Amino acid sequence: MKLLVTGGAGFVGSVLSRLFATGDAACEVVAFDNLKRRGSERNVERLQAAGVTFVHGDVRNAHDFSALQGSFDLVVDASAEPSIHAGTDGAGVRYLFDTNLLGTLNCLEFCRERAGGLVFLSTSRVYCIDALRAIRLHEEETRLVPEREDQPAGLTPAGVSEGFPTTGHGHRSLYGTTKLASELLVEEYARTFDLPAVVNRCGVIAGPGQFGKVEQGVFTLWVAAHLYGRSLAYHGFGGKGKQVRDLLHPADLFSLIRRQSESLAKYRGDVFGVGGGMAGSVSLLEYTALCQEAAGRRIAIEQRVETSPVDVPFFVTDHTKATREFHWSPTRTPRTIVADICEWLAAGGEPLARLFRPASAQRMETRRG
Ligand SMILES: NC(=O)c1ccc[n+]([C@@H]2O[C@H](COP(=O)([O-])OP(=O)(O)OC[C@H]3O[C@@H](n4cnc5c(N)ncnc54)[C@H](O)[C@@H]3O)[C@@H](O)[C@H]2O)c1
Repeated sequence: MKLLVTGGAGFVGSVLSRLFATGDAACEVVAFDNLKRRGSERNVERLQAAGVTFVHGDVRNAHDFSALQGSFDLVVDASAEPSIHAGTDGAGVRYLFDTNLLGTLNCLEFCRERAGGLVFLSTSRVYCIDALRAIRLHEEETRLVPEREDQPAGLTPAGVSEGFPTTGHGHRSLYGTTKLASELLVEEYARTFDLPAVVNRCGVIAGPGQFGKVEQGVFTLWVAAHLYGRSLAYHGFGGKGKQVRDLLHPADLFSLIRRQSESLAKYRGDVFGVGGGMAGSVSLLEYTALCQEAAGRRIAIEQRVETSPVDVPFFVTDHTKATREFHWSPTRTPRTIVADICEWLAAGGEPLARLFRPASAQRMETRRG
């Protein structure tokens, strides 16, 4: 199989590219990326060592796709400006829409002309924030837990399913809106041009290889902060760290996409909730305990009570539909994810540590050096 991964030097894209190139599937893989994300340039050498062809290109620019040789069996669109805060201060709005929406259109046009199908990586951020905030929760010792009754449609005991409201209950962030609009484009193209396609609506993806920052990739940053002694803060919802997310390891996403690629011909833009599920869920407070255990130390964690207008207290993916359809379930837990991130950071040595250290420590190092 010949595979194109847009955003192929990013966190998720580079893991998918390497695993597709080196696993028993042994595909011919081209990773396409403009290296906008800080740190993604560090993945290029590793991709090439795994036999992946790297092409420097921008999904905003249809012309860049014409530099790609021949036709492809599958495109995985993993390029994005993935921050929930992107564009909210007015800056970067154009980049966000040009990459996340125009970029999807360019990928779809490329698929229509030269590829056999598309796997589109969407996000749980397509759900309305007010509806997610209307989930009734009670506080337990280490986390917020949904009440059993009287909940919004689409919330099941397994979490938020594909039927949860994406419209009609307030906004969903600029980022989420670009993704929801892209989902519609994917479905429309799939039906109009008979293009095999699936949409994976992913919850939090976390694991080794992510250049995490506060506004995106916080679960990786959390581990690094414990290892390198960087301070952190619990933001919002009373500053107690009891907000809950489910975590998906990118290797589990790979095993799903591999299965999807085998039966893609059946689908025309069908949407699947994809995440770690209840078994892979964790509150920040619980995650702190896992980080303390792995790093063998405690760090200062401030409490900031004010809540960002785009934050939600609870999100866990009900992945029943993906499990049923593809006989797939995530296997890696938050504990495994923390261990894998620690191993990656240790192997990356000083150059990697420098990306995660607090700025003050870096200034001290510069003075000493
Ligand atoms: N990481 C998560 O928790 C998560 C959750 C849900 C969905 N997703 C989705 O998964 C995909 C991958 O996310 P990620 O976490 O790997 O993010 P990432 O920022 O690590 O990777 C995105 C890659 O896209 C590249 N890129 C950005 N603009 C581009 C452009 N105009 N042209 C070409 N390349 C461009 C970046 O350089 C980067 O390498 C995205 O679509 C994101 O929305 C991620």
